[in-house]
Amino acid sequence: MPDVTPDSLSLDEKASLLTGRDFSTTNPVETAGVPSIVLVDGPHGVRPPDAAADHLGINASLPATCFPPAVAVGSSWDPDVAARVGAAVAHEARSYGIHVVLGPGVNIKRSPLCGRNFEYYSEDPLLSGVLATAHVQAMQSESVGASVKHFAANNQEHERMRISADVDERALREIYLPAFERVVTEAQPATVMCSYNRINGVPASENHWLLTEVLREEWGFDGLVVSDWGAVGDRVAALAAGLDLAMPADDGTGTVKIVEAVRSGELGEDVVDRSVARVLALSGLVADATNGLKDKEEEHHALARELAAECVVLLRNEGGALPLSPDARIAVIGEFAAAPRFQGGGSSHINTTRTTAAVDAIRALAADEGNAVSYARGYALDASADAQALLAEAASAARAADVAVVFAGLDERDESEGYDRETLDLPAAQVEVIRAVAAAAARTVVVLSNGGVVSLEGWHDEVDAIVEGWLLGQAGGGAIADVLFGAANPSGHLAETIPMRLQDNPSYLNFPGENGHVRYGEGVMVGYRHYNSVELPVRYPFGHGLSYTTFETREVTATLTGDDTATASVTVANTGSRAGKHVVQVYVATTAGPVRRPTRELRAFTKVALAPGESRTVELALDRRAFAYYDIVQGGWTVAGGDYRIQVGRNAVDIAAETSLTLAGDAIVRPLSLDSTVNDWFSHPVVGPELMGRLAQGMPEQSPEEAEENARMMRMVDSMPMRQFVGFIAHIVTTEHLEALIGLSHEG
Ligand code: BGC
Repeated sequence: MPDVTPDSLSLDEKASLLTGRDFSTTNPVETAGVPSIVLVDGPHGVRPPDAAADHLGINASLPATCFPPAVAVGSSWDPDVAARVGAAVAHEARSYGIHVVLGPGVNIKRSPLCGRNFEYYSEDPLLSGVLATAHVQAMQSESVGASVKHFAANNQEHERMRISADVDERALREIYLPAFERVVTEAQPATVMCSYNRINGVPASENHWLLTEVLREEWGFDGLVVSDWGAVGDRVAALAAGLDLAMPADDGTGTVKIVEAVRSGELGEDVVDRSVARVLALSGLVADATNGLKDKEEEHHALARELAAECVVLLRNEGGALPLSPDARIAVIGEFAAAPRFQGGGSSHINTTRTTAAVDAIRALAADEGNAVSYARGYALDASADAQALLAEAASAARAADVAVVFAGLDERDESEGYDRETLDLPAAQVEVIRAVAAAAARTVVVLSNGGVVSLEGWHDEVDAIVEGWLLGQAGGGAIADVLFGAANPSGHLAETIPMRLQDNPSYLNFPGENGHVRYGEGVMVGYRHYNSVELPVRYPFGHGLSYTTFETREVTATLTGDDTATASVTVANTGSRAGKHVVQVYVATTAGPVRRPTRELRAFTKVALAPGESRTVELALDRRAFAYYDIVQGGWTVAGGDYRIQVGRNAVDIAAETSLTLAGDAIVRPLSLDSTVNDWFSHPVVGPELMGRLAQGMPEQSPEEAEENARMMRMVDSMPMRQFVGFIAHIVTTEHLEALIGLSHEG
């Protein structure tokens, strides 16, 4: 591209650059040599448009590899998995001439019902942020831009285009924004995509606080902000708030409005120029298509299988039911084994290059191992067959085998972009099959395919093993077979809690909202933060995941490395007989500070590969943020002085070893006013002693009993504003004295 600056373009040309030309491309300015930029979904594969394609997945896009979606990658707890997905997707994007891939999505799984949870990583912001950062870095190192989405507080599909997410600032800062913040500060994504919803009443696309003050001024983002598709209502207000590019094309009115607003003086031309400069900078990504997909098709399918195996979570394995023994007769049951469910519906839906059905992959491995394999459909996803006959056939197949493997899960229709689920239950027909098979089979293994959490109640105890396969991408069937036979040792861990009941979820009473508002009443107590803090039993906690080998956590130490930073050191050993990967999960627990803290919070993690008998010591950095809370009064991150426990967990509930640290913390000194409480006044480091001295001077000598009674009285007035309290001490302290002391507190 020649050296184009906003100055070399007319106002009309500049305005035209700020709205899409069609569904996936921006307007070029051919006379000036400004190219059109191609932005396409994403995130776990590309959707190159063909002539008849649309983003709701109704028409097919051109073929691409469907890698494991974020729900699976979240369970890998492995940034390397995320990075390999990002790099491979970028390669395919370039082969199709795509410059920006729309994703990854880093919204927090606030409710297990959110229809788009399959496209998000976790209920925890650290896990989401670390994985997304790796994805974006790898993608962008292949010269393809990422678009981190949906910024922000887009945690449900119900009324997603207009609902107001009413969230207090501490919850925003501690839960809903940190994954975005990490990606922005560590990976410099080419673009950030604003969400459809409102945040505390203000549409994300017109939210100056979000798009300019937080994103650019605080986090230093210098890329381009693009709207979610159709998220812009008021084009001029959005531009002024910091939204650069409105996608997709509109009816032409957006450009006209920008031009008119500049001409009338409502909008400064410098605002237009700033956004145009960002579009021009993004044009740097424009390159010709490489047409390299065909060479990679086979390799990427194999990669998708390898990565998917890293994401599978072994939830239960009684009596070593898995891996399958080489001579076992296996009954594979359930339509999902033959017609795999491996991706979610909506804008991320990939037209795959090929797919692997689990039953075929099981047969292929069984041929090597010498197992006999039978297949029974079990249930019909479209309810077209005689359910009782299918059930009877499944039970007899189970009876004739040594082990039955039942594939169950959610159908594409049960969960998708655009709507939320209403229940965590599996379809009743499938539960019936699981129970009938469990009653008939010597051993029963259940393999689940689902984008959002499903309930395991009503059948959990009747089966020997449960494999949570989430949605694993197009090669997921192969990955499941690898795990069942032990060719891959499962190492996935839950990135979200599996609760006993939907009602236990902290968002339950406030989801999906009413009258245009969804109130995030649970504040920071999202997911395991809530379940732990109220000591609620869950079916499987955040972080849970079994392996075919065993691990031991031997030693935990923590060393201060700065004022409020530390390093945790942990020794882990593989005490079993197979090679495997262990996730070291470091949580920080404290009650320090003036706000209620969750029982513990994930603050660092790493995945370690260990040969049988091998042990290793790993070090994990705990930065200031690992100890901080967001103080809404001071408007910043604060470390409270006090004790902090550094806990290494097998999961968020089961702590294997811990140590503790005492931190000096930040001096929390707040300027006083007459509305500050008596306690604020007396505990102020400068003013407190002054005031106490003055009171002591004006009071008669006290007996010990009187002193005790006075102390009790003081507790009664502790929370009284000074404005009221001053009346009781007016004979000793005047308003003039207080005003002088207020001045003193402001100096501090
Ligand atoms: C979705 C985005 C997607 C965009 C373009 C929107 O409806 O929310 O995630 O990137 O469409 O297809």
